[in-house]
Amino acid sequence: MLREIKRFEMVTHRSKKRNLLALIFLSLACLVFLSLPHAWGQTFISGKVITADGKVVASGAVALEKGELHNDAFLSGGAIGADGTFKILLPSGGPWGLHVYSEGYIYFPLQVQIKEGEDNDIPVILPVDGNPGDDPQISDIRFNKISDQVFQIKMRVEDANDNLGPQMLAIDSKRFRSYRLVPQSGDLKDKKADFPGGEYESPFIPQPLDKENLSEWLFVVADHQCSNSPIYSGLNQSIIKPPVVHAEKLKCDVAGIWKSNFDKVYQFTPQKAGTFSGKQFAGDILIDQMTQAEQNVAMDFRFKGAKGKADLQLACQENQVRLQGTFQLPERSGEWVFAKLQNARATESGKDLFSASCSGCHYADRKDTKVGPGLKGLFNSPKLPASGRPTNEENVRATIVNGQGKMPPFKHLEDSKIKALVDYLKSL
Ligand code: HEC
Repeated sequence: MLREIKRFEMVTHRSKKRNLLALIFLSLACLVFLSLPHAWGQTFISGKVITADGKVVASGAVALEKGELHNDAFLSGGAIGADGTFKILLPSGGPWGLHVYSEGYIYFPLQVQIKEGEDNDIPVILPVDGNPGDDPQISDIRFNKISDQVFQIKMRVEDANDNLGPQMLAIDSKRFRSYRLVPQSGDLKDKKADFPGGEYESPFIPQPLDKENLSEWLFVVADHQCSNSPIYSGLNQSIIKPPVVHAEKLKCDVAGIWKSNFDKVYQFTPQKAGTFSGKQFAGDILIDQMTQAEQNVAMDFRFKGAKGKADLQLACQENQVRLQGTFQLPERSGEWVFAKLQNARATESGKDLFSASCSGCHYADRKDTKVGPGLKGLFNSPKLPASGRPTNEENVRATIVNGQGKMPPFKHLEDSKIKALVDYLKSL
């Protein structure tokens, strides 16, 4: 009996201890969570909208369908700013259909795969609309109060060549929402059919209308030929601002956004020294490997399952940066030329990384010890301050990645960040 009681006591004691531990763990987890910056864990899609004639748009709208492109499940959206950029908060990651509209250009539909909890940078290049005369038109946008908490939007839509598509959109740019309007006579079952001109209405929108700022609402419609209407605000005013010259000074390097002579758009991202990962947008090429040795860039890729190789050269002239050469596939070969459109988005600078990860233990402007040795003039001395090993990039990288003695490892930092850190250390 006594034994049993004891055992019982031991069990409850242990589980109490476990509960306490769990509680401490939970409160710590909460504290850590609360102290993280607000943007932590939120999912964004962002980009800069450049045009095929080398400009940056200064006005426009973005709408996003949840899931597959052209399933018409419009849910999110936002505005393009005067600097041509957009940044839209999404409720979740996964597949989304992206639509980008700017007056004077053909709209841009793209299936994208969004990473949860990250800011997903998507390059957008709009083709010039060669025939703006056949664009659909919006008029008479009305916000109707249904109750104190609900309103509905109506508008008129016309199309000169009568081939309207299902995209009749109202975008709440402040709340990152989009709504599809349907014909007042009822939605069409076949979304590929031509939609009628006339009166359109939104679903009931559960927001009070009274304090709504109608200039934050955007309206756009598109036809089956990817022509879109002028974009209006909720005040029935066109929002157009003329596109501006693309002023970005292009860096003579492989990282960034490129357009090929087959009119496809690519993003090349640095991996470990001398290698890149490559991604083609809206196409059927998969890039397996890219390596750079001086001006030469070699690429292994797959096109519809067939393995291919490309030999390219980086060629830079004033603001023209090109990768040009040839590709070989089992069945064919040819010229492949990429023109750079945009630099890689600036990664966190080494200085910011240092103050976030290292400054707790190291001075950057002194040689004396804080927790670890002061790092001023690190690369000017032939020997590293703690270990006495030769000062070179390799050894410093190894210390950062693997840690050393009481210094913790920073294995989680991407290679590009380590490079930024080492570059910063070299400047001390
Ligand atoms: C928790 C404290 C701590 C943090 C954080 C820390 N270090 Fe250190 N660091 C140390 C200590 C302690 C040493 C001395 C290690 C030894 O005794 O070999 C050291 C050594 C070094 C050395 C000299 C290595 C050598 O071989 O002499 C470099 C360079 C260095 N750290 C860079 C960094 C950088 C860059 C970061 C940020 C990514 C960083 N440290 C973050 C504590 C830290």
